[in-house]
Amino acid sequence: MYILVFNGSPHPKGNTAALVKEFVKGAKEAGHQVEVVDLSHKRIDGCLGCDYCVRQGREGNCLKKDEMRDIYPLLKKADALVIATPIYYFTWSAQTHAALQRCYAFGKPPALKKMALMCSSHSPDVYTGSIATYHDICNYWGVEDVGIVTAYGEQNKSEQKLAEAHALGAAF
Ligand SMILES: Cc1cc2nc3c(=O)[nH]c(=O)nc-3n(C[C@H](O)[C@H](O)[C@H](O)COP(=O)(O)O)c2cc1C
Repeated sequence: MYILVFNGSPHPKGNTAALVKEFVKGAKEAGHQVEVVDLSHKRIDGCLGCDYCVRQGREGNCLKKDEMRDIYPLLKKADALVIATPIYYFTWSAQTHAALQRCYAFGKPPALKKMALMCSSHSPDVYTGSIATYHDICNYWGVEDVGIVTAYGEQNKSEQKLAEAHALGAAF
């Protein structure tokens, strides 16, 4: 299975990156091919809502000439998509939202069968909106929710949370 991971944190050695690193280990040990896209270090604009992609029959045909163009070929072949993001004001980071909303250029990524969510935050009880959005997208796309890992405050980079991320990778 080819698993695409969207990392929406700007910190290469941060809390989200730690979850992603363990997830990747677990998934690779289980025999999967994994690719991580660091969204924050790419120029990805918001969707214009121009419906150019709809008129083109979609398939990732987006009018915008930004770095999302590098990601569309990966999305096209992805069997699974993992959203990994810090919590910013009770939701996914802006970069994460931008990339996800640019999936409109597919409607649904054509090969996608599974998803997972990993979130890092400072405080507990800040995940309601993020998890609701994630579940709504799984339902909308008709894909399996493989699991969710959240880590806040002291839990970040803890042995237990890294083990959870590792197990999530192995669960695909
Ligand atoms: C702009 C901004 C907004 C944030 N908003 C929240 C928030 O609403 N709730 C919370 O618990 N933490 C919030 N945080 C803290 C981050 O979610 C937390 O530090 C997270 O572990 C960062 O992950 P990273 O190391 O991968 O960047 C915010 C941080 C920033 C920079």
